[in-house]
Amino acid sequence: MSQQATEQVYGHYIGGEWTEGAGDTFASENPATGETLATFRRGTETEVDRALEAADAAFDEWRALSYIDRAEYLWDIYHELRDRHEELGEIVTKECGKEISEGKADVTEAWHMVEWAAGNARHPHGDVVPSEVAGKDSYMRRKPRGVVGCITPWNFPVAIPFWHMAIALVEGNTVVWKPAEQTPWCGQIVAEMFEDAGIPDGVFNMVQGFGDAGAAITDDERVDTVLFTGSAEVGHEIADKVGGEPGKLAACEMGGKNGIVITENADMDTAVHSAIMSSFKTTGQRCVSSERLIVHEDVYDEFKARFVEVAENIAVGDPLEASTFMGPAIEAAHVEKIRRHNDLAREEGAEVLVDRFELEDDEIPDGHAEGAATAADGERSGSYANGHWVGPFVYEIDYESDLRCLNEECFGPHVALLEYSGTIEDAVEIHNDTPYGLAGAVISEDYRQLNYFRDRADVGLAYANLPCIGAEVQLPFGGVKKSGNGYPSAREAIEAVTDRTAWTMNNADEIEMAQGLSADITTSEE
Ligand code: UN1
Repeated sequence: MSQQATEQVYGHYIGGEWTEGAGDTFASENPATGETLATFRRGTETEVDRALEAADAAFDEWRALSYIDRAEYLWDIYHELRDRHEELGEIVTKECGKEISEGKADVTEAWHMVEWAAGNARHPHGDVVPSEVAGKDSYMRRKPRGVVGCITPWNFPVAIPFWHMAIALVEGNTVVWKPAEQTPWCGQIVAEMFEDAGIPDGVFNMVQGFGDAGAAITDDERVDTVLFTGSAEVGHEIADKVGGEPGKLAACEMGGKNGIVITENADMDTAVHSAIMSSFKTTGQRCVSSERLIVHEDVYDEFKARFVEVAENIAVGDPLEASTFMGPAIEAAHVEKIRRHNDLAREEGAEVLVDRFELEDDEIPDGHAEGAATAADGERSGSYANGHWVGPFVYEIDYESDLRCLNEECFGPHVALLEYSGTIEDAVEIHNDTPYGLAGAVISEDYRQLNYFRDRADVGLAYANLPCIGAEVQLPFGGVKKSGNGYPSAREAIEAVTDRTAWTMNNADEIEMAQGLSADITTSEE
């Protein structure tokens, strides 16, 4: 499938074949315009069952290949991702509404992940460990767990699938993947890449569909590991269920109520720049986006004035235009969710500083509002329904521990300013006072304050004098508390998709035990 949307109905990739399956159809829509991009089949239990059967059957042969041979298939995909960068970046933007530099960065992140995973095939995969007994050699060795079920979100529709799958496959597992129902077009293209690479039948399987197809994957006993990135609601359900099944494992990465601490020693340019990027890039729809800005009283007024001014003017618009900063929200139901969070903040006593939830007509790009089918661009004209437009919402509120607006994730361009007095310890206390713990940042010129935040903020990803977005694939990505268990990404995903064997070998003629344990055998005759 290429750049051009077509009339065709796209299916699933199972056991090395394309199949339509029995499910209904569903459409992928451009969230900026409402236009239909392509039509797909919805996966049912039948397709999931076939995909799992194929993955299970392919496991033995796949694990028998060397790491390096397995990685060869991934290198083909690496080149294809690079060669099709512009084209795929545009598709990402069309399908999930991220502005174009983000659409392209998504593809770049995907090939970085593939590069890391395939390159890692040539790196050591275990440890040589000393033994107490000179005649023994001890090692930690890894082996693949089996069938890995991957459930991925719409907001990084190319990168996150590779966080999961590149590692899982190079380590010798087989995969059944369900892309997000909002971004099946990206799913189709990624599956075509695996087919182009000639990966053996059944090693990689893709089933399109919704939560029911995802549940059919995660609940099945043939699945040894579930890798999930998405909402806390679904992730906790998966983790709970899988946790009760011996031998099965789930690594889940979920949301955040991420915060940025701006101290009295902050450089204001860095503070405003970092906060704007963290709160509004991807229209606030990153799991690392920031919804709380915790600002010291000495710099509060200045920060507030500058932040509000930029938020009032930030360019919401056509995500395909390079001059756009914020594209639309993903879907109508999500706009409603953002509305509910904005209302909740008001009900809880927020002083609203910026409310661009309902954008002015002239702020919505030409041809993207309901009924406007005037664009001259032939490819995209004619079918505009309604884009899902929202703008920034900024409020200030007196910090109180149990305010729902400070604890519940909105996943939109919705951000609170919280004024604090006292020290970095006081700021970090407020920062940590949420059920989540994914990403956070501190802005300060004082290295002691930076280091205190680094060591005491309850987060998996911490940044100093930077936005709290933009993690690179060679670092672990994941959170603490309600934000996740295990790391379904990059380096740390290896832990989730491999079992460790502690392998000890005796080189001596006699058996000698560690810990002073006697190796003598006495019998009743002695
Ligand atoms: C997400 O927020 O859903 O760190 C993933 C980043 C990206 C990945 C974000 N590399 O912002």
